[in-house]
Amino acid sequence: MNDDIKKGLLGIVVDETEVSKVMPEINSLTYRGYAAQDLCEYCRFEEVAYLILNKDLPNSIQLKKFEREERNNRELTKNLYEIIKHMPKKSHPMDVARTAVSVMGLEDKETTDSSHESNMRKALRIFAKTPTALAAFYRIRKGKKIIKPKKTLSFAENFFYMCFGKVPQKEIVKAFDVSLILYAEHSFNVSTFTARTITSSLSDIHGAITGAIASLKGPLHGGANEEVMHMMNKIKKPSNALKWIKNALKNKEVVMGFGHRVYKSGDSRVPTMREYFGKVAKIKKDKKYEKIYDIVEKVMIKEKNIHPNVDYPTGPTYHLMGFDTDFFTPIFVISRITGWSAHIMEQHAANKLIRPLASYKGNRHRKVMQLNQR
Ligand SMILES: CC(C)(COP(=O)(O)OP(=O)(O)OC[C@H]1O[C@@H](n2cnc3c(N)ncnc32)[C@H](O)[C@@H]1OP(=O)(O)O)[C@@H](O)C(=O)NCCC(=O)NCCS
Repeated sequence: MNDDIKKGLLGIVVDETEVSKVMPEINSLTYRGYAAQDLCEYCRFEEVAYLILNKDLPNSIQLKKFEREERNNRELTKNLYEIIKHMPKKSHPMDVARTAVSVMGLEDKETTDSSHESNMRKALRIFAKTPTALAAFYRIRKGKKIIKPKKTLSFAENFFYMCFGKVPQKEIVKAFDVSLILYAEHSFNVSTFTARTITSSLSDIHGAITGAIASLKGPLHGGANEEVMHMMNKIKKPSNALKWIKNALKNKEVVMGFGHRVYKSGDSRVPTMREYFGKVAKIKKDKKYEKIYDIVEKVMIKEKNIHPNVDYPTGPTYHLMGFDTDFFTPIFVISRITGWSAHIMEQHAANKLIRPLASYKGNRHRKVMQLNQR
């Protein structure tokens, strides 16, 4: 292959961003300059969502207003509830999320207005409504009645409530909130780049987020948290873990939840999520997954020098919280809508059509023969 080709855009800097950066000097992912783990310690997810969208942390008045708007926009139209009710029960919830956001675009009165002010309002509506759409599907496919959103609950509490009909203890809600903070943004990853590429043709925010959801679904990106759980289920019990991972490495298998395009010596989000995984396991009195986690991690680092990424601890954490495995990546979606939206607005503010070149290796020029001569 031609040496000039950077397959996978490896190492290519394609634009500037103010949204987030992995800062080597503090070895951490930062959102608008704040370390993600510090945000987990001092903030709720709503504050971080505000930060990502508005470039600064809110004061209490700004936060109240933001939360009020989010809570007031959670409800879906009757039409969207009906569409979700009629979706095949076996649909992957990522496809449900993708379709739901697309329908929101059909219903939104500002779809064609891509001004910053309008995009901000639409981003908030997509952010508020997508959890409702997903929770509705969660209930419907189990043959249960839809639970409508409740304005008195926080973003995280409300998601639990709409899925399970109750809010768990505050430590579990905090662990969920932390996972949302850690998933909210990560610069030019595949789904964000997809959103920016769609935006670069001056298409609308609903279309860009619909495309980003499709991109996040893949197992090499957001889908990895689900794959981690499938792997843990295959391992079954801690006493099988060592043999399983050694065998996987011998067979040159890709071990899900490990490796990263940017972090080569450890994902800075992992220690925080690992701590909350431990807290949830303790509350649930189930240490099995933690034991499997530690054994597989130790072998991956010792034998391959490949460290876990954030999907490794989130997978079993969501499982212990009671979510179905195919809902793990949709939870990533409800958080990442903030990061995608910020990037979509950044792309609009300084747009250049994204249109790379390809090195052609197909047929040389050929003459067309008419059908009866071929
Ligand atoms: C994330 C990922 C796609 C990054 O890929 P990348 O930057 O293109 O790195 P590569 O796939 O080229 O990996 C470099 C080497 O490490 C190995 N490697 C990377 N991740 C690995 C993993 N999870 N399991 C086993 N080997 C892995 C590759 O096989 C490759 O080895 P080689 O040089 O002998 O061929 C890759 O690590 C992966 O597939 N991970 C599993 C999926 C996952 O957890 N995704 C979530 C990301 S947040």
